Amino acid sequence: MTASRAAAFAPINIALVKYWGKRDAALNLPVAPSLSVALQELGSLTIVQPDAQLDRDIVVVDDRPLDPAGLVRAERVLAAVRRRAGATGHAGVRSVNTVPMARGLASSASGMAALAVAAARAYGLDLSPAELSALARLGSGSAARSVPGGFALWHAGSAPDGSDSVAECLHPAEHWPLRVLVAHVGGRKAVSSTAGMASTAASAPMFEAWTATCRADVATARNAIAARDFGALADVVECNALRMHATMLWGRPPLLYWQPATVAVIHAVRQLRHEGTECCFTIDAGASVVILATAQDVRAVAEVLGEIAGIDEVIETRVGPGARVVESGA
Ligand code: DP6
Repeated sequence: MTASRAAAFAPINIALVKYWGKRDAALNLPVAPSLSVALQELGSLTIVQPDAQLDRDIVVVDDRPLDPAGLVRAERVLAAVRRRAGATGHAGVRSVNTVPMARGLASSASGMAALAVAAARAYGLDLSPAELSALARLGSGSAARSVPGGFALWHAGSAPDGSDSVAECLHPAEHWPLRVLVAHVGGRKAVSSTAGMASTAASAPMFEAWTATCRADVATARNAIAARDFGALADVVECNALRMHATMLWGRPPLLYWQPATVAVIHAVRQLRHEGTECCFTIDAGASVVILATAQDVRAVAEVLGEIAGIDEVIETRVGPGARVVESGA
């Protein structure tokens, strides 16, 4: 089959049980499993156009050439697709994020997942969701979770080649239509996840305890999601995020991603839950906070967030579907 243009959309995903530590940096293989939700409509739309005239891959994201580190990641995905398809040559890639970059949501996961899905189609590969997840993982670990929709589990796996370190959909979004609020908190440029997790793993005395926590937390969160038990989910989601940040703080250099508004949101969400509102928070490698809430309680939470100083913007969405091809064969 000849290569032809294809486009794919992939959602941003938010980890409820976090990925923070690799057993293989080249293949982005994690030391522990993680669990996430896909966000509806927030993500990356990526077009891959194989082009025999090009002498290298050209990748443009939001109208700007991808930075060199990002390009290395994208090329890992493209090279793996071409190797598998027995194809040579290069491609022009254009990607647009539906949330502006630096809005408190990392777009590399959705971008790499959309790239994997679009490139596989462009080069004529017919891959399973698990195979697409493994391809996306080569670009960024958490991208493995942006392939399945709804509630996704990324298995740590044990195969040295990473073939079993893939994410699967545990439940589609309809299983539990939770709402998601992203409270964007600006601040200093954070240490990247890639660099941060390497230094934490190498230096934090509690790193082993952290990975054991993740294994246990995935099991607890799975049960809470299956039973739609918000209280149980809130408990494990917040504990897991706080333990990740505690582990980061114990590394050298200590990683402190929070700003005052981050802490204000933590307190506000805990207070709301104490009063009976179904909401909980999680925080990635940055100052922004993501809040899960039930459909019934989301308005009350958004109102409280609107009053907290230091939040630039609150984006409201819900759990949504996974990556999909949106155009092919042009
Ligand atoms: C804190 O997937 O961005 O968001 O594999 O090095 O590309 P690389 O890291 P990345 O790390 C995400 C870290 C996190 C937690 C999570 O999403 O699970």
